[in-house]
Amino acid sequence: MPETPFTAEHAGLDPARLPVHVAIIMDGNGRWASARGKNRLLGHDQGYRTLKDIVYACDDLGIRYLTVYGFSSENWRRSQEEVGGLMTLMLRAMQTEIEELIQNRVRVRVSGRMSDLPADLREEFADAMRRTADFTGLTFNLAINYGGRGEVVDAVQALARKVLAGELAPEEIDEAAVAAHLYAPDIPDPDLLIRTAGELRLSNFLLWQTAYSEIYVTPTCWPDFDRAHLIAALADYQKRIRKFGAVVE
Ligand code: FPP
Repeated sequence: MPETPFTAEHAGLDPARLPVHVAIIMDGNGRWASARGKNRLLGHDQGYRTLKDIVYACDDLGIRYLTVYGFSSENWRRSQEEVGGLMTLMLRAMQTEIEELIQNRVRVRVSGRMSDLPADLREEFADAMRRTADFTGLTFNLAINYGGRGEVVDAVQALARKVLAGELAPEEIDEAAVAAHLYAPDIPDPDLLIRTAGELRLSNFLLWQTAYSEIYVTPTCWPDFDRAHLIAALADYQKRIRKFGAVVE
């Protein structure tokens, strides 16, 4: 029997009401590993497998943008072993996946303070962004060494430099000007924010951009999050009435 194609229609979703941008806090890798008596890095390794499947699932469904929280600006506080393991995993993942991402015409982006990353990882990311820059399929945006407050600080500094250079008047700094100086100004705000592993917090992720995002939290740890979980999140999203502060009858 031919395999059922993985499309929004087959998943029982309304293709016209899919979120344009899905953002994910991929939490619970450590708990997943600990529950199995394994090293936390094994949880991250499994999390990478999940991430690969979810990237192509989003692409198959016709979602335009996927942003994932890969490494926060606070994650440096973890043990040297875990930080080093994550850097190695991200480097290996990028090297392993780039050709398949290109074949699928996925546009890779990286958001965060790149300058603090190991040089080899920074170069790998730069190379992936350069090689996929013109693709028009799914935009896969990796938030790495990313912090929402830091991003706003970086934007404010860039604006202040323009004011100092006489290129901008203080009164010209409005919401659009701040948004235009964030790390990925061309990517629309997330419509749906998914957080795995049950915690009810934003953890410094996309603070500016999630002002009107719909939030979906699942108790499932990230390594166990699969296409069925993604569809459940999208189906839940399609039941929401988005009001953006207005009254909707
Ligand atoms: C949060 O789980 C997860 C992370 C900090 C890392 C996410 C990394 C991956 C999914 C690996 C692949 C990444 C890329 C970019 C290729 P946690 O460790 O905080 O879990 P816990 O709260 O249960 O301890």
